[in-house]
Amino acid sequence: FSMSDLLVVGSGFFGLTIAERAAHAGRKVTVIERRSHIGGNAYSEIEPTTGIEVHRYGAHLFHTSNEAVWDYVNRFTTFTNYTHRVYSTHAGRVFALPVNLHTINQFFDAAYTPDEARALIREQAGEYNVASARNFYEKGIALVGRPLFEAFFAHYTAKQWQTSPEKLPGDIVSRLPVRYNYDNRYFNDTYEGLPTDGYTAWIERMADHPNIEVRLNTDFFDSTQPWNKESAVGQVPVVYTGPVDRYFDYSEGALSWRTLDFEQEILPVRDFQGTPVMNYPDADVPYTRIHEFKHFHPERATAHSADQTVIMREFSRFADRDDEPYYPVNTSDDRAALLSYRQRAVAEPKVYFGGRLGTYKYLDMHMAIGSALTLWRNELVDSL
Ligand code: FDA
Repeated sequence: FSMSDLLVVGSGFFGLTIAERAAHAGRKVTVIERRSHIGGNAYSEIEPTTGIEVHRYGAHLFHTSNEAVWDYVNRFTTFTNYTHRVYSTHAGRVFALPVNLHTINQFFDAAYTPDEARALIREQAGEYNVASARNFYEKGIALVGRPLFEAFFAHYTAKQWQTSPEKLPGDIVSRLPVRYNYDNRYFNDTYEGLPTDGYTAWIERMADHPNIEVRLNTDFFDSTQPWNKESAVGQVPVVYTGPVDRYFDYSEGALSWRTLDFEQEILPVRDFQGTPVMNYPDADVPYTRIHEFKHFHPERATAHSADQTVIMREFSRFADRDDEPYYPVNTSDDRAALLSYRQRAVAEPKVYFGGRLGTYKYLDMHMAIGSALTLWRNELVDSL
């Protein structure tokens, strides 16, 4: 390890931000990555027959209100002016999302003002009480009323969890988004856009530094390769962005995750759905949404196949140990195990746990980058 000042495990945005900052400050960094590519779940590639950029691990939309993160990411890429909007096909009709005044007026075939809509939803929500609701079903009705809840939230959420709404705990939601105006922007951050040359170009620029060595297809727990847990910990500072339970051999129990299955199809049509993301909230459709990637980059129209398109259906379920962990389930058992893992983590010599998997927290990209910048500034910059 004499050649490296730092070992980074995992090349997602958290690991790459640490590696880039350390390299920039003159330290030598080795990044090991289990997969055959860098970038973690933000990785994308051009589908070769159509020229359309496909987000391999699900659609990634960049948005942030954090000035420091926005300045930082702009060192590596420019962003398009893409603004995310989502629609929903329910009972054979298309509605605007997030549920807003347009959705409400479409749904009730009315022309309510904001106050009229608010009064209606308040009345419909009176069927149950938020405080005494016994499950997700009752809580959802108490929040937005039965008609909207059953149409847009109940079965969509049930499909995400593969569990019926009555069996889901109420605490998976504290609120459900309803807007009493016509604003259908999905995110309300100051900055939003997609990387102009794609995610992979952005990610590669972060790793492109003479002080950074990247080793792909290299698992930290594979003791046959030189950069593994046994040989590295205690010898060199380690930033670990893999699953925290895996690091400790699941000694406190396996943390539970949801995963997604994606079904990609190339269709011989110019435009399949007219929009990037269509949600399917009904119980009789097995998938939760369909992505059509060409619509993320309308400015690339001439580079895209004119008479073909790429769509991806998304299915959701609980993850087994061999599945990709995507969203923490966060049961009370999970929270208890996480506390024990955190105690064990502080006792590890110079090992810094970070990122989505290392902290068992859903993080958007800007949050992963922001927390890596903080770790660098507060702990690593002076100790390496
Ligand atoms: P990330 O998971 O990206 O990287 C961890 C890396 O560590 C992986 O490459 C993994 O292979 C590697 N690794 C794990 N164990 C290892 C081992 N033992 N040895 C070596 N390497 C190992 N965010 C957003 O802002 N907008 C969005 O629209 C979306 N959309 C979205 C959709 C889906 C389906 C998911 C799952 C996530 C998003 N995100 C998102 C979140 C985004 O993907 C997330 O912020 C980043 O992936 C976080 O980066 P990390 O580096 O923390 O983890």
